Amino acid sequence: MLIKIAKPSDLHESDVTPESIYLSRRRFMGGIAGLGAGLALPGNVSANADYSDVPEGNAPAWLEEKISDTQWRAITPSDPEKDALTPFDDASGYNNFFEFGTDKRDPARHAGSLETQPWSVVVDGEVNNGGRIALEDFAKPSQFEERIYRLRCVEAWSMVIPWLGIPLAEVIKRADPTSKANYVRFETLVDPDQMRGQRSSFSIIDWPYVEGLRLDEAMHPLTLLAMGMYGRELPNQNGAPLRLVVPWKYGFKSIKSIVRISLVEEQPVNSWQQIAPNEYGFYANVNPQVDHPRWSQATERRLPNSLFNTNTIDTLMFNGYAEDVAELYAGMDLRKHY
Ligand code: MTE
Repeated sequence: MLIKIAKPSDLHESDVTPESIYLSRRRFMGGIAGLGAGLALPGNVSANADYSDVPEGNAPAWLEEKISDTQWRAITPSDPEKDALTPFDDASGYNNFFEFGTDKRDPARHAGSLETQPWSVVVDGEVNNGGRIALEDFAKPSQFEERIYRLRCVEAWSMVIPWLGIPLAEVIKRADPTSKANYVRFETLVDPDQMRGQRSSFSIIDWPYVEGLRLDEAMHPLTLLAMGMYGRELPNQNGAPLRLVVPWKYGFKSIKSIVRISLVEEQPVNSWQQIAPNEYGFYANVNPQVDHPRWSQATERRLPNSLFNTNTIDTLMFNGYAEDVAELYAGMDLRKHY
């Protein structure tokens, strides 16, 4: 399956620069891939992206259609030289998805057992318009966008991934939150028959895997609900059919295979915070100045790498998205709210 690249005549600047998005215009302009082959956009990762060696998946027809109708609003990382796209094989072969095991290769090995069609999501809690909704209907009102984001795991490895999905803000707006909605809480599927890691008696996670965001973080234009990556649907090991992507936070906030999105009044306790509250907080903003109690967060290993070339680079404040998100945390002590 190939991504349809919009012809210049199909895409106008106004289509890709809605006024609601206040990300730097320079960054947008660098990332508009759809402007066509004739136009050289220096440092444009997406325009140069070639997904032809990415294997075909097994997307349902509605998802194929959404993907081929993607609006190319790639957010290019600040340093396209350093932030080349991670090869698909690494992004889909080196994963954290404890529902399928704790080894980095376990998700790719075992996530095939997850049945992602049909899928539905419950939107509930402090909303006027909630309920269970089939994924197709959940996705239907929004146009897919491509977003190229850095992903920085709390374990100090990182990747650069082209996601396909919809802004979480659109989903929340449709749910029509009540005045009591202060946070968003997310849950992953629980099904030990399909998820072998949930059958293990050694598991440290009290299933379901839970994550949460403050409402303003959830409404931020960078926050994405991904249903695809590299021009195709999400592989199961990457959180099919629906995962969160919050690029300025450590990867564990980006919860996979979501079945429930609840608007809540109180700050939720996320899974890693529950397991080790002195090591993992609610906010989990990427911060090179606040080390994990057991290792430094000042640098990261950018994949692909090897024992001989660790490909170590400096970690950036808010993973390089400070310009867009720092104001969300104005006045907060980030050592306390890690
Ligand atoms: N979501 C669920 N449900 N279970 C998990 O174990 N791991 C998290 C996050 N989402 C995890 C999860 C962690 S620690 C990271 S770093 C990212 O997924 C990894 O995403 P990736 O495997 O697609 O790179």
